[in-house]
Amino acid sequence: MKILMIVAMDEQGNIGNNGSLPWRLSSDMSRFRKLTIADGFNAVIMGRKTWDSLPENYKPLPERLNIVMSRNTSWSDKNAESALYPGRAIEIAYANGCDECWIIGGAQIYNMYLDRVDEIHITNVHTSDSGDITFPENDWSDWREKIIEKLPKDDKNEYDTTYTIWIRNVS
Ligand SMILES: NC(=O)c1ccc[n+]([C@@H]2O[C@H](COP(=O)([O-])OP(=O)(O)OC[C@H]3O[C@@H](n4cnc5c(N)ncnc54)[C@H](OP(=O)(O)O)[C@@H]3O)[C@@H](O)[C@H]2O)c1
Repeated sequence: MKILMIVAMDEQGNIGNNGSLPWRLSSDMSRFRKLTIADGFNAVIMGRKTWDSLPENYKPLPERLNIVMSRNTSWSDKNAESALYPGRAIEIAYANGCDECWIIGGAQIYNMYLDRVDEIHITNVHTSDSGDITFPENDWSDWREKIIEKLPKDDKNEYDTTYTIWIRNVS
């Protein structure tokens, strides 16, 4: 089972503002959906705060096993599996026969899994000062970047974006 990460961040690494996404980027939402569903059966792992930020009619993210990380042993939701610690979330995805397991945020959850992923899909949003939550510090010297697509802003996308895939160098 492959474990991957996906995130959108501005030029300073900001990913969230006031408990939600800072931007309206339709192209990024479509790519997120397409990549995380793909053509198999995949899991998405997210923090409880990111789960709370999803609009009710988006829960669970369809066609994917939704796994929510919480330290609260009483947390439950009929639309998601809950995991109390990082290894547990991976075990749940594996036990459900998932082909890929996507770490979808937020910052606390990215931080927990950064050491465990070898591929990160990043949408760079060409703006700054977008929010109050940032992607964790990472030493990118061990990674190589592949630029996939640059998209200009338009009616449905507030900012120019660059979509890149970062692959960890094999040592
Ligand atoms: N730009 C993007 O791509 C992107 C993607 C996702 C989210 N976001 C944004 O990021 C923000 C939320 O990020 P966040 O960092 O504040 O919260 P988060 O990572 O979504 O969730 C944090 C919660 O995860 C649980 N948790 C943390 N560490 C844990 C551990 N070791 N074991 C078990 N559970 C653990 C805790 O839940 P309990 O408190 O229940 O114990 C904690 O409060 C929002 O603004 C959201 O919109 C942006």
